[in-house]
Amino acid sequence: MTRTSPSRQTVVITGASAGIGRAIAVEFARAGWNVAAIARGEAGLAGTIRAIEGAGGRAMAFAADVADPDAMVEAADAVAAEWGGIDVWVNNAMVTVYAPVQETTPDEFARVTAVTYLGQVHGTLAALKHMRRRDAGTIVQIGSALTYRSIPLQAPYCAAKAAVRGFTDSLRSELLHDRSRIRLTMVQLPAVNTPQFGWARSVLPREPEPVPPIYQPETIARHVFHAAMTAPREMWVGASAWKAIVGNMLVPGWIDGFLARNDYQGEMTSRAANRQRADNLHEPVDTDPGSRGRFDDRASGGVMAADPRWLKLGLAAILGTVAGTMLFATRAEGKAEGKAAERRRLRHRL
Ligand SMILES: NC(=O)c1ccc[n+]([C@@H]2O[C@H](COP(=O)([O-])OP(=O)(O)OC[C@H]3O[C@@H](n4cnc5c(N)ncnc54)[C@H](OP(=O)(O)O)[C@@H]3O)[C@@H](O)[C@H]2O)c1
Repeated sequence: MTRTSPSRQTVVITGASAGIGRAIAVEFARAGWNVAAIARGEAGLAGTIRAIEGAGGRAMAFAADVADPDAMVEAADAVAAEWGGIDVWVNNAMVTVYAPVQETTPDEFARVTAVTYLGQVHGTLAALKHMRRRDAGTIVQIGSALTYRSIPLQAPYCAAKAAVRGFTDSLRSELLHDRSRIRLTMVQLPAVNTPQFGWARSVLPREPEPVPPIYQPETIARHVFHAAMTAPREMWVGASAWKAIVGNMLVPGWIDGFLARNDYQGEMTSRAANRQRADNLHEPVDTDPGSRGRFDDRASGGVMAADPRWLKLGLAAILGTVAGTMLFATRAEGKAEGKAAERRRLRHRL
């Protein structure tokens, strides 16, 4: 965040034509940033440009597919040429397929991987090209609680999110090795009320829904903005994300069974699936739904977020105290036993 000229800072956001990406674009625009939006659909991009400008930002849009690495570099080059550099790059674009593994085709696995995993790799490479020149900038990976805890009926998406985390951790060590000042952060999100559930490909008998509790994209965008400014290693948003991630670390087998019993119902509304509706897997559904989906009546506007380092420090402190107490007790017990043995020896001699 140190670039002085031009005065406005610049963010690039992939998947910014709708959903959380649109809300993030507006959040940066409110803070006076230049915002470059990348997505495929022209109608959604036009809506995002209006929203950015309405919120006080300067806007640029690129109709491009994140699965195309050259298109990401071209967009990054154009942004840097116009606005002098890239301060923050947010990798947010995604697609998913709702289906049991055996009903998901190899082509569907490949496409979700190309967009949801490789799309974040391509965005990162394009961002690094420009950030390395100034040795400055922040890359934000939009993740999910499902990065850590896969759920049934969304295997390609969950695997892609886990892969993003693997990729990000490798890169973080490389940046540290190079003593780079480029910062890298991953934000793990809970369920959010976005258009995703109305246009994702699905073979389920009923329409998909985010597994409650559900949050509004605008409140999520505020946390993403904060993560971009502070660059914690990771940020986990919402108690439900914390529960899924920590629960999976502690009792993964129990969670396997819990999800088997509850999650099939949890991922579907009561509405019968509309087999005629278009899906966005290979091509955009070129409409402008904005940031929100159809779950306004069940979505909450406030959600807490925290850097999981504090949880780890807390756990380390508790474990340290327990270990210290056990060590002290063992030593005290050893000393008491030693004294008792000494007394027995003395009695024996007498
Ligand atoms: N909603 C949730 O419950 C939830 C929960 C946890 C994490 N997340 C994460 O939040 C992020 C956004 O999700 P969302 O729910 O806002 O999704 P969404 O409503 O489906 O919006 C997806 C955005 O990505 C764009 N996009 C899709 N495929 C693309 C491609 N190949 N190239 C470029 N852009 C593409 C879409 O525009 P076009 O179709 O016009 O390209 C759209 O702008 C994702 O990383 C997701 O994993 C969401």
